[in-house]
Amino acid sequence: MMIQLDNLSKVYRVGVERIAALDGVSLGIGQNEYVAVMGPSGSGKSTLMNILGCLDRPSEGQYHLDGKLVHRLGGHALARIRNERIGFVFQSFELLPRLSALHNVELPLLYSGLGWLARRRRARGALERVGLADRIKHRPNQLSGGEKQRVAIARALVVQPRLLLADEPTGNLDSRTSEEILALFDRLHAEGQTIVMVTHEEEVAAHATRIIRMRDGRVASDLAAAEDRARRASAEGPTDKAKEGRP
Ligand SMILES: Nc1ncnc2c1ncn2[C@@H]1O[C@H](COP(=O)(O)OP(=O)(O)OP(=O)(O)O)[C@@H](O)[C@H]1O
Ligand SMILES: [Mg+2]
Repeated sequence: MMIQLDNLSKVYRVGVERIAALDGVSLGIGQNEYVAVMGPSGSGKSTLMNILGCLDRPSEGQYHLDGKLVHRLGGHALARIRNERIGFVFQSFELLPRLSALHNVELPLLYSGLGWLARRRRARGALERVGLADRIKHRPNQLSGGEKQRVAIARALVVQPRLLLADEPTGNLDSRTSEEILALFDRLHAEGQTIVMVTHEEEVAAHATRIIRMRDGRVASDLAAAEDRARRASAEGPTDKAKEGRP
């Protein structure tokens, strides 16, 4: 398993209150899986993503990435894993407003040891991959929402990450632009990319091959997409035929 989580929990303390944002999550994710994480607001989806992305550490439990026990690593080693192996895409794009698309995409490579020419070539390649070769000089405010998100995806991909994490990547986009981004994810998945994506929308989750539903910091269900769809269909009540008294 590329990712193995064992009995992971995350407790936040606010004043005297303790909030169990994650409460005993165990799961494995293999290479080239495309996972959608769903669940109500506050169920722990972003907390899980932040731990997977090495932006945060669990309070208890174990996180293995490629066989390495990552949560035990110190700040520097953790940052290194994050930079080398993880690409993160956020709902709000998180691009630097003063930098061109090209320079935004180049940023994660600054500490990679690559020379500037190699960095530029890689950044240009990543932008070509998301279909933005003709927008590399534009600053974020000179791009559409969908284009901004594609720049953010290029920035995530430029390090050739093992894992692409996306927390509601289409949350700020209209439905047509969302479809473009999802088509891009479909293509990346077909090319071998491992993807974990948080979404509130069933139509978005339908692009994934596996659906994990969270509730109160726990995994409520974890099914192949087809099985998840079948269970939801049967949970939505009897079909017209059944209502008419026929099996
Ligand atoms: N830094 C923090 N300090 C204290 N509590 C936090 C912190 N971050 C999250 N929480 C709490 O942990 C719980 C899980 O939060 P999380 O952000 O993971 O939810 P989510 O499933 O991503 O929700 P949403 O769909 O609204 O984004 C929530 O109850 C939240 O209030
Ligand atoms: Mg969230």
